[in-house]
Amino acid sequence: MSEQQIERRKRALSCIQPTGTPTLGNYLGALRNWVAMQEEMDCCFAVADLHAITVRQEPAKLRQQTKEMFALLLAIGLDPEKNVIFVQSQVPQHTELAWLLACNTQFGELSRMTQFKDKSQKHADNINLGLFAYPTLMAADILLYQPDYVPVGADQKQHCELSRDIAGRFNNLYGNTFVVPEPYIMKAGARVRSLQDPTKKMSKSDENQNSFISLKDDKDTILRKFKRAVTDSEAVVRYADGKDGINNLMEIYAAVTGKSYEEIEREFDGRGYGDFKVAVGEAVAAELVPVQERFDALLKDKAYLEEMMKKGAETASRIGARTLAKAKKKMGFLL
Ligand code: AMP
Ligand code: TRP
Repeated sequence: MSEQQIERRKRALSCIQPTGTPTLGNYLGALRNWVAMQEEMDCCFAVADLHAITVRQEPAKLRQQTKEMFALLLAIGLDPEKNVIFVQSQVPQHTELAWLLACNTQFGELSRMTQFKDKSQKHADNINLGLFAYPTLMAADILLYQPDYVPVGADQKQHCELSRDIAGRFNNLYGNTFVVPEPYIMKAGARVRSLQDPTKKMSKSDENQNSFISLKDDKDTILRKFKRAVTDSEAVVRYADGKDGINNLMEIYAAVTGKSYEEIEREFDGRGYGDFKVAVGEAVAAELVPVQERFDALLKDKAYLEEMMKKGAETASRIGARTLAKAKKKMGFLL
């Protein structure tokens, strides 16, 4: 390794779609890790609004949700001074690089993407070209910023692998252009499951509102949903096979309080599930309520939000333009 490589701070990039309010699952599984990462690496975080339109969106709603997701990124503690935080569609280099990459991606590769297969089944009336090409746009999101790591949930691993393949192929064909990034799969303790069916993951698209905690749920709602969470009949707080409901609550409680399973078992020794559920609800509320307060304040400060979006997009565009120019030149375009 050269001296320069040793000294350079590692870079990371990730994006989140502005579709619906994130759940406690998104928060513990993805967003909170971003907050920790900003201390160790140079990070870019984006609201992937261009990805959202691969399924039909109502324009006014998309606009509002994009603003809200951007505000939420700041509210959870991502610092716009330390990171590049931006809205994808405000940085035109993403779509431009996506075309160059699309012409270096095979039909067969895209056909194998499980998300494409799932979503084209779910939205059989709208299997559009964008839905199919989605991973090439995602590759562009990533490769523009030359990151070393791409923190994502396990569900995005396949797309990240494809980005690596595309980057490697491009580098081989045209000469070294892109850093080949590594997916950085968020670690366990972060697979939050449904409060109503703990064999399923907690998901915002679940039709049962009691199955998930939305980041916008107020304290009373959080407490109520935990009170109704599915458990078992043993009435002992311990982590064990066959106790999916309690295991899930213990994982959540451990993730928010930093306590180990043994500590939790000791804390609730001889006490019923009722007490435990209240404690989990209180701990989650203590984590989420301050985020909600910052979020509400940010949404009211339109000027600040717009200024931060503009600043983020300008910085992203400056970085992205450099990579894009390099890629275009290598492919034979006149600059
Ligand atoms: P989604 O909302 O399903 O598009 O997920 C966005 C990201 O949030 C995923 O890539 C995961 O990293 C994370 N995520 C979603 N649901 C959960 C969950 N129940 N537990 C942990 N992480 C999750
Ligand atoms: N596809 C990701 C998701 O649905 C979001 C995303 C878009 C992304 N571009 C990205 C994630 C680039 C990481 C890097 O969750």
